[in-house]
Amino acid sequence: MDAFFISVWILAAVINTGTSLTCTMCMSLNGANCVSTENETCKSTVTTCETVMLEFKIKENVTTALVRSCTRFPFDCKVPYRSFSGETFSFMFQVKCCDSDNCNTDVLSFPPRNSTKNGVQCPVCPVAVDATQCHSNGRNMECTGEETQCLFFAGKMLHPAGKFLQLAFRGCVHSDTCKEKIPPYPESRLEEGSTFQCSPGTT
Ligand SMILES: *[C@@H]1O[C@H](CO)[C@@H](O)[C@H](O)[C@H]1NC(C)=O
Ligand SMILES: *[C@@H]1O[C@H](CO)[C@@H](O)[C@H](O)[C@H]1NC(C)=O
Ligand SMILES: *[C@@H]1O[C@H](CO)[C@@H](O)[C@H](O)[C@H]1NC(C)=O
Repeated sequence: MDAFFISVWILAAVINTGTSLTCTMCMSLNGANCVSTENETCKSTVTTCETVMLEFKIKENVTTALVRSCTRFPFDCKVPYRSFSGETFSFMFQVKCCDSDNCNTDVLSFPPRNSTKNGVQCPVCPVAVDATQCHSNGRNMECTGEETQCLFFAGKMLHPAGKFLQLAFRGCVHSDTCKEKIPPYPESRLEEGSTFQCSPGTT
């Protein structure tokens, strides 16, 4: 090897160690916190660690999850809080991303649901599982707190327990949830081809 190749090789090694981030890793289903037993070395394309807290309520089933890891879905970091409320389906999502080794140790908690009506009304339907449509048949719900827009979703969404669910639902959504177009999996938890349609409600 001549000096040129040696220096390229050393440079590559330095860049490689310089970019491989380590994150605290743990997961708790239906628990408010999790204690790390492992550190995860991120893929070289991942530049942030995250703490994600989710609550997913479908019919009577509530699943909460707290996950610390290398950032799994890069789009997550763009919107730190999202929520949706419908008739038989709701979700809340909170994330904190950070970019230094093992920085993802934040203790998160959801703000209490703000149940003050905000004057916006949205079409609503009971969540339809394994379906691509759900009809409001003219029924509306009154939105509360910061949920000031309407959402129609039809598609596949990753459940916190790790499986994609085919769902259709309508209801009120936090305005931040609608700020940016959501790219499909693996950038986000929504499968390619899903409809995520925000619209202003009636007041
Ligand atoms: C993870 O890394 C931190 C900081 O380097 C260290 O204090 C901790 O012991 C590590 N945890 C495990 C489970 O290896
Ligand atoms: C709730 O979850 C359990 C276990 O995953 C499942 O067997 C049951 O069908 C679910 N119920 C509803 C109403 O979705
Ligand atoms: C709750 O929501 C209402 C209606 O949007 C708003 O006026 C109020 O400031 C919110 N309260 C808190 C504590 O955020």
